[in-house]
Amino acid sequence: MPTTWRILGIETSCDETAISLLKVAGSSVKVEQSLVSSQIPIHQKYGGVVPEVAARSHVPETVSLITDILGKTGLKAFDGIAVTNGPGLATALRVGIEAGRVLAMLSKKPIIGVNHLEGHLASAWLNAENRKHWKFPLLALIVSGGHTELVLMKAPGKYKIVGQTRDDAAGEAFDKTAKLMGLPYPGGPQIAKLALEGDVSGFDLPRPMRNDGSFDFSFSGLKTAVRIAWEPWAVGPEERKEKAKRDLAASLQQAIVDVLVEKTIAAAKKYKVKGVLLVGGVSANARLRETLGDAVVALGLAFLPSDKLYITDNAAMIAAAGAWHLLDGEVHDWKKIEAKPEWNL
Ligand code: KG4
Ligand code: ZN
Repeated sequence: MPTTWRILGIETSCDETAISLLKVAGSSVKVEQSLVSSQIPIHQKYGGVVPEVAARSHVPETVSLITDILGKTGLKAFDGIAVTNGPGLATALRVGIEAGRVLAMLSKKPIIGVNHLEGHLASAWLNAENRKHWKFPLLALIVSGGHTELVLMKAPGKYKIVGQTRDDAAGEAFDKTAKLMGLPYPGGPQIAKLALEGDVSGFDLPRPMRNDGSFDFSFSGLKTAVRIAWEPWAVGPEERKEKAKRDLAASLQQAIVDVLVEKTIAAAKKYKVKGVLLVGGVSANARLRETLGDAVVALGLAFLPSDKLYITDNAAMIAAAGAWHLLDGEVHDWKKIEAKPEWNL
């Protein structure tokens, strides 16, 4: 087994094509390359991700990014491959998987199929400061466009989902509210920006499942409440509408943050964890980062959010999760890696 590993990461589960090269040598972890080609501009005209369009767009981008990274060095550039094989869009996943399989066959290097959600967990591990506090058990709040999960990390590779959304993901609540107000996809960053100048008590929105004693979430009721609250403002004069947009953005963001933070803190106490991870696209939300960070630190625990660079989908986090397995001697047969669109942790 090599003492220094260079792992090629491949990610095509949704609307970003991403290829990376991660170097792991003892306790040193370095992202040497992390290329991401986003399809956001392509999907913006449809108001959301169109699976067939995503899959088709991944093909030339995967080839182009792999060529960029391996161009000069060729197959010698890496010692192992990590490819996302679920969850995600089936046809999109297959593009990355096929690329990984061909490279594994040609290079005869080990390959591992990685769970995209484990990749998000590993995004926090890419931060050197976080690695110093990486002591199990840990609790992770994964919040993205497709997932809202509280994951108890008991030991390396040993995960238990202790709470999850029963309907929409937190990111969907942001995206759908933005769409309702006529803002472009993805809505999260737009809402966060508007919320800066809005009044959090402008709209009285529910905090679904806040006091139900479980660690589960539900955001579809919030979506309905937002739709009803917005109706009278949608037709009003422009100036009145702009203020309502800011207030609705601030109120929605606060409702989501309140529920996410309260449930995460309750779970952190119950499972007596040593630290709390905050990962996934929605973790870019400054209000969520600050509020959860303050609450976690007040409990005397380590707060381990992923770096801004690795919050949204990328392949460095996939290579990192791949490292956890490959360095442990785990390997998959390249002929048998398949897309698992519904794979949970
Ligand atoms: O993890 P991610 O890049 O893709 C998935 O695997 O789903 O997450 C994308 C989600 C979108 O719903 C987007 O609106 C949301 O993350 N997002 C945000 C912010 N930045 C991205 N939500 C709230 N505030 C933000 N600043
Ligand atoms: Zn993701």
